[in-house]
Amino acid sequence: MKNNVRIGIVGLGRVFEHYLKLFKSKKIKNYQIVSLCDLDLKKGNNAKKILKTKYYTNYKDPNFYKEIDLVIILTISGTHYKICKFFLNKKINVLCEKPLTMTPEKSLELYKLAKKKNVMCGVAFQNRFNPSIELVKKSIDKGIFGKIVNVSVSLLWCRYQKYYNDNWHGRWKKDGGVLNQQLIHHLDIMRWIFGPIVRVSCTTTKRLNKLEAEDTASAIVEFSNGSLGNIEATTAARPIDLQASLSITGEKGTAVVGGIAMNQIKIWKFIKQKKNEEAKVKRLNSQKVPNGYGLSHITYLNKVFKLILKKKVTPPVDAFQAYLTSIFVHSLYRSSETSKWVKLNSGLRSKKLGFKN
Ligand SMILES: NC(=O)c1ccc[n+]([C@@H]2O[C@H](COP(=O)([O-])OP(=O)(O)OC[C@H]3O[C@@H](n4cnc5c(N)ncnc54)[C@H](O)[C@@H]3O)[C@@H](O)[C@H]2O)c1
Repeated sequence: MKNNVRIGIVGLGRVFEHYLKLFKSKKIKNYQIVSLCDLDLKKGNNAKKILKTKYYTNYKDPNFYKEIDLVIILTISGTHYKICKFFLNKKINVLCEKPLTMTPEKSLELYKLAKKKNVMCGVAFQNRFNPSIELVKKSIDKGIFGKIVNVSVSLLWCRYQKYYNDNWHGRWKKDGGVLNQQLIHHLDIMRWIFGPIVRVSCTTTKRLNKLEAEDTASAIVEFSNGSLGNIEATTAARPIDLQASLSITGEKGTAVVGGIAMNQIKIWKFIKQKKNEEAKVKRLNSQKVPNGYGLSHITYLNKVFKLILKKKVTPPVDAFQAYLTSIFVHSLYRSSETSKWVKLNSGLRSKKLGFKN
């Protein structure tokens, strides 16, 4: 068995800077970065100097991908589909940042293509691997909350106008608003842990930022087990990222996962609970994180590299999961566009997200 996964990275912007810090931390094992790609020469030459690797401006250049086992795609959201498809067709494993694609149908297409070519198509929903979220998932699967009453997510983050003044953030074709850009992690977790979801009612608005899509959204969610969910999300919180939290109310107990990246257990109270159990759970399942990215890309990347070295092609989060989460996102947008409840199995999609310039 080879020791290292040979990686090519496409997109050397902000999230790449985050990856770079994590690579430097030495907590990620069994990889070798062999080639880099970005349209921006300054970013490319800078990264090439730091990593002492080859740099290309065009990902279609065979020299970029001829020696790699895995391509990591960190470009702007609206480009993911095209780039993923190119590498899957070349039978190269793919790990792509969220959102995998701008519409559910394109994620489904990538899922089927990866199956056909027998390669990996993974999506970076890294928050699923936060210790706090892993605990919630395990606890829900074991039924320790009893009957679920309500599940809420609240994302109150601060993005100033400068963030939207590039050529893609907040644009319908390339990004979307707070729902598809920032909140998508929380929507993925809400659906994955507590779903299936039957229907949603959502309203969006622009409060402080100028962008095509929304900076603020509120929604009600109805789950198939009869429980309800609430969503509040904004990038117009000032002057700091206040929280990204998940609250669960059940017949046997209540929990709140908070922090700026759902990284801390804030409340863990059950009717039947040992003395000091809450304190212990908080201590063992909370993390300090530097920013809203959290730290779970470390866990995620280590898992992906291990799988590739074992020649396994099912990633920790696959394109089918991205498809289901994208249906949830589109249903919220469609509800906001029509001022009506939208059923997730209706096939209704946003008329704007991924389409309108
Ligand atoms: N998982 C997370 O928590 C998380 C956090 C932030 C961003 N993201 C995602 O990461 C992606 C990138 O975000 P960012 O903030 O780094 O954006 P960014 O604008 O800072 O960087 C994107 C880079 O991609 C390059 N690029 C665009 N098209 C290209 C192409 N065809 N070929 C080569 N390079 C190309 C750009 O030149 C730019 O350097 C987005 O999809 C975003 O949603 C994920």
